[in-house]
Amino acid sequence: MASQSKTKPAKEVKAAKAVGAPRKFKMYINGEFVEGHRRAFFPVYDPSTEQVIAEVPDADEQDVNRAVAAARAAFDSGPWPQTTAQDRGRILFRLAERVRKEAASLANLECRNSGKPITEAEYDIADVATCFEYYGGMATKVLGQVNPVPDNALSLSLREPIGVAAQIIPWNFPLLMAAWKLAPAIAAGCTCVLKPAEQTPLTVLEFASYLTDAGLPPGVVNIVTGFGETVGAPLVRHPDVDKVAFTGSGEVGKAIVKAAADTLKRVTLELGGKSPNIFFADADFEAAIDGALFGVFVNQGEVCSAGSRILVEKKIYPKFVEAMSAKAKTIRLGPPLERETKMGPLVSKDQFDRVRAYQEIGKKEAKTAAGGGRLASQSKGYYVEPTIFYDVDNSARIAREEIFGPVATVIPFDSEANAIKIANDTQFGLAAAVWSRDIFKAFRVVKALRAGIVWVNHMQPTYVEAPWGGYKQSGFGRELGPNGIDEYLETKQVHINLNEQPIGWY
Ligand code: NAI
Ligand code: MG
Repeated sequence: MASQSKTKPAKEVKAAKAVGAPRKFKMYINGEFVEGHRRAFFPVYDPSTEQVIAEVPDADEQDVNRAVAAARAAFDSGPWPQTTAQDRGRILFRLAERVRKEAASLANLECRNSGKPITEAEYDIADVATCFEYYGGMATKVLGQVNPVPDNALSLSLREPIGVAAQIIPWNFPLLMAAWKLAPAIAAGCTCVLKPAEQTPLTVLEFASYLTDAGLPPGVVNIVTGFGETVGAPLVRHPDVDKVAFTGSGEVGKAIVKAAADTLKRVTLELGGKSPNIFFADADFEAAIDGALFGVFVNQGEVCSAGSRILVEKKIYPKFVEAMSAKAKTIRLGPPLERETKMGPLVSKDQFDRVRAYQEIGKKEAKTAAGGGRLASQSKGYYVEPTIFYDVDNSARIAREEIFGPVATVIPFDSEANAIKIANDTQFGLAAAVWSRDIFKAFRVVKALRAGIVWVNHMQPTYVEAPWGGYKQSGFGRELGPNGIDEYLETKQVHINLNEQPIGWY
């Protein structure tokens, strides 16, 4: 996914000052900034310098219980259940406005904590504001229904909030993923306990300081920081949680479905992919090369919808590999706060090691056209070269497993049917793209692709107004768009008898 905000980038952000003592953050429970009951903290890094920039509470199950109790109480009693849709909408509008006002500092913090280029962080923050605005508008557009039952009765369908939502998010779009989850939940009237990724908790903690000002009652949104096993897992099994919304790895997604089964929680999952980006010979060649590069290398390739399998028609295949590789070598990698930077470091040492390992696997499985190692010019920071493997067989590990870094696999195909077959030959089904100037062919391929998002002559633009989510093992449920709020609503059927004499057997 990539941002398409029309909002202008915030003002020039100065390079980070020399890092002093790490800033100590607190988490946010029941309207207050608090430490965990153990008073333990864990370090948060700047992946471009490998230095500790902050410390955040290392919460555990007891803290989770406290946050869930606050969310439960806010849902069941207090002002929240009486709040009108109009009020919820206004709260979301105020949050959008506040995010816009603080955009420069939020983008700076996001950039430093995640390693993404500042220009991309600015787009993300603009999208955060747009997301709150969109669901602010939607709060008053949740409509029920009158069902035409064959009786003297009024049959209604009411839409009601599901209850307490546990929201577990990853590190690749930290505040944006929080917005995708919090905004529709608030609009629907749910209450939330959100766990940011342990690598990137800073922007959402900063954002938490806007909630009271915006008019949100205590307990409606709680932010608990910590690790998957100690915070994520207890959240998922907590009996007072009604719904889990998760974005992250397939492995954890499967564990969540199993754990949620005990209490039959509603679950939505947005997992990864191995998305095909398909190029026919009749595509605009220059646009195609840019689309292939952007599709897989944006945000250092740490994107669930990364176009990591690049399928190219044989007629243009050698020329394509050559042009793509030549251009990949010119991509500017460097400190994420510099405005010319196009790719920053990977988010963490773990992710760096993982991607480096796949580069080595790729060298054995296929031919290397560009990159293949870490960035030699940087002695610090988790920088990885944009890497292109070609003559990749679709059964290779680098073509089947999600790498989540700047590693592209280029695969040749010889016909439309062959392209569709390779594209769908994957356990995933998040996204896909097709490039052609023949609209009949492009639409045939669109219909045949088993994926939740399909782009034509583009890859990655993502809009809060349109649904996002996957087929197959890329998850279930949809975020964003009108579908996004449905995932936070239950349907209540109401039957109102209009007969003076009740109908019955006795
Ligand atoms: P992960 O799935 O372990 O982490 C995502 C979130 O889940 C984090 O907040 C984490 O603390 C939490 N979590 C971890 N274990 C949990 C558990 N047992 N119960 C509840 N919550 C838990 O992803 P990780 O380890 O950061 O990255 C590994 C791989 O996952 C990546 O290389 C990438 O392939 C994939 N991934 C996919 C993402 C996507 O957008 N679809 C985002 C991040 C990672
Ligand atoms: Mg993990």
